[in-house]
Amino acid sequence: MSNICVIGTGYVGLVTGTCFADLGNKVVCLDIDENRIEKLKQGIMPIYEPGLEQLVAQNVRAGRLSFTTSYPEALKDAEFAFIAVGTPSGVDGEADLQYVRAVAEAIADHVDHPIIVVNKSTVPVGTGDWVADIIRKRRAGRPLQFSVVSNPEFLREGSAIHDFMNPDRVVLGSLDREAASKVAQLYLTLRCPILITDLRTAEMIKYASNAFLATRISFINEIATICEELGADVRQVAIGMGLDKRIGPAFLDAGLGWGGSCFPKDVKALAHMAVLHGSNPQLLQAVMEINRNMRRRVVMRLRKALGTLNEKVIGVLGLSFKPNTDDIREAPALELIHLMENEGALIRAYDPQAMENARPLLPKAILCASPYEVAEGADALVLATEWNEFKQLDFERIYHLMRNPLIMDGRNLWDPEHLRSLGFTYFGIGRATNGIVNG
Ligand code: UDX
Repeated sequence: MSNICVIGTGYVGLVTGTCFADLGNKVVCLDIDENRIEKLKQGIMPIYEPGLEQLVAQNVRAGRLSFTTSYPEALKDAEFAFIAVGTPSGVDGEADLQYVRAVAEAIADHVDHPIIVVNKSTVPVGTGDWVADIIRKRRAGRPLQFSVVSNPEFLREGSAIHDFMNPDRVVLGSLDREAASKVAQLYLTLRCPILITDLRTAEMIKYASNAFLATRISFINEIATICEELGADVRQVAIGMGLDKRIGPAFLDAGLGWGGSCFPKDVKALAHMAVLHGSNPQLLQAVMEINRNMRRRVVMRLRKALGTLNEKVIGVLGLSFKPNTDDIREAPALELIHLMENEGALIRAYDPQAMENARPLLPKAILCASPYEVAEGADALVLATEWNEFKQLDFERIYHLMRNPLIMDGRNLWDPEHLRSLGFTYFGIGRATNGIVNG
């Protein structure tokens, strides 16, 4: 059992803290947002993540997990201080490290015993050294015994608890092997490979992993676009590719492209770091451009099919950046909606979880209570996020509700044959059945 303080109660911090508590550690989660901490104390989660609320309640009840806004209280007995604060990106992709700096300063100000500072936030390569420097300088004359370890987080929203408890690997970066080994102890019960590297290499592994996954998606999306032109079906192509063990099947679902709090920010930040240090990250630039084009292309296909988007009613199913989350950060659905609204389209939309978050960003759209309400009077129905509840809709009902039975399946969720047999015009991403070339 170890004493752990987790600073930042966003996705990464809250899941990390809760899971460490569940593994038997004593965890104090700190956030400077009083409202957030107050709600957490009442058992109200700031994010929607399956299973999190129960796990938090269980561990609070067991006395292993608590929440505070007070640094002295949180750091009092901490052997480990995990930094899990946001690193938002600026216009040029550069990560904003003001929150990381504030935490480093607070640790320097409030700790008087040996401590291991573990960085979980995704930070530019070199930030670990920078954090150590901030603490060292602030404690000049009153040295603090500490080490910095980089421990990048790979969990996915929607399956965050499962991902934490069943990691493919744990990466720890530090020049202090002993400190890295102590952090490794926290993960031993998870029985996964633990890779210990230097600080900068660990920081780079996080960026390289996310950029590679985004690249796979952009790759299959580019193949999808070519499939559309040539009359092939990208879903079968992905299956055929994925059976090659060297390629594997994951992250080859063509669609509206990637979004979320990580991929867009991290690919941009990596490209920015490369440029800053004199490289020309051509592949990363193309990966981002292909991603943007997936949305533009859907708009183009709808415009072509309907003649114009001006005053056309477009129904959109799904607003979150992927299913099982209420997170709308960089959601493809929102970009798509804004592109269509720019051309005069009238949007009706529905999402099982993300409506509240999306509302302020969609002042012009009509937010509906169900997929059927979305379909009412629509000239086209676009699937933007593949929530389970959209899998088995009553399409006969939808057919009668729509003004024009056009379906744009942006996540290749539905069966084109079935929909075409009901009378719909069906467009998917990279799908052409029976030699019929899409859109
Ligand atoms: C990602 C990484 O997977 C995770 O390791 C990291 O810690 C944070 O970033 P997350 O953002 O939660 O996790 O979502 P993920 O499930 O990876 O999906 C990212 C985006 O890619 C979503 O918009 C999703 O719809 C899209 N995607 C994913 C595809 O378009 N096709 C695919 O085959 C897979």
